[in-house]
Amino acid sequence: MDVLKQIDDVAKQAREALDKVGDSQELEQFRIQYLGTKGALKDLMSLLGKVAKELKPQVGQQLNTLKNEISGAFEQKKTSLASGQVAGPQIDLTEPGKRPAIGNEHILVKVTNELTELFGRMGFSTAAGPEVEDEFHNFVALNIPLSHPARDPLDNFYLAPAGEGASFEDVPEGKATLLRTQTSTVQIRVMQKQQPPIRVVIPGRVYRPDTHDATHLSMFNQLEALVVDKGVTMVDLKSTVMQFVHAYFGPTARARFRPSFFPFTEPSAEVDVWFEDKGRWIELGGCGMVHPNVFKACNIDPEVYTGWAFGFGIERIAMRKYGIDDIRLFVENDVRFLSQF
Ligand code: DAH
Repeated sequence: MDVLKQIDDVAKQAREALDKVGDSQELEQFRIQYLGTKGALKDLMSLLGKVAKELKPQVGQQLNTLKNEISGAFEQKKTSLASGQVAGPQIDLTEPGKRPAIGNEHILVKVTNELTELFGRMGFSTAAGPEVEDEFHNFVALNIPLSHPARDPLDNFYLAPAGEGASFEDVPEGKATLLRTQTSTVQIRVMQKQQPPIRVVIPGRVYRPDTHDATHLSMFNQLEALVVDKGVTMVDLKSTVMQFVHAYFGPTARARFRPSFFPFTEPSAEVDVWFEDKGRWIELGGCGMVHPNVFKACNIDPEVYTGWAFGFGIERIAMRKYGIDDIRLFVENDVRFLSQF
């Protein structure tokens, strides 16, 4: 019989046999059968003496390759059995998958969306405006004259004029740009574009040179609201605010209105909500009936229309809603805080 063919056959048998080996006993059987002193490999070796001289190198080489293959595969099997692995695909399909770490919306984004959605259900659309503003929108149109202390450079982030060597002195009076201090600027932008009826909320960032503490940041967010129509009264303002307070904080939440002053509203009030965990009132922001001068600046006839507005701090709202006791947490980027929401 052809020796080379015999070698091939043994190789095939050995591979199949080793595939079926499932434990150390079967592996020992395999060893004896193929690699043992009376095993298949030894049998083949003894044939070597009988092959024709010119075939000897080739047959010898084949035998060597076979021996290496079988003993190599044998050692591998031995190791994998010892480490408890089984032959075949090494996947446990019942094992729970690895969850990728998925981020979540920042709490302020979440709260802002909740607020625009809530007011959306009350018939308000949403508007936005620029954070870099001119003095007209931040002051003049809001009935804040040049002489007003609110325009003091110490209370605002005025932007230096562009250009080499340009200084604040070069800016004509009333023509400076600044980071807006209030979202009330967008009331003006909305009314310049649209005649009443108007029913809009405006969320956005505002900037003030305030010292940071547990309730103040130099950058924070406000939710502005503006309603303009015929026959709108303070009753609409108060009932809308109370409806919001109860819808968002719960039916037993308490809020109060304190008489106040803002140049762009008359009369004006401040709204406080009761923080149960702190046992005290905290101011949400201001509100009032839109001042006739504001309407005039936007070409809306104050003899025909009336309106109300408010501007509340979104961080304060979020603090009351989610029991957050320090406003600085919103900007510190600590994932232990952020991932809770
Ligand atoms: N803009 C005011 C502030 O930032 C808050 C405010 C008061 C907004 C009265 C209003 C308003 O719309 O009517 O302090």
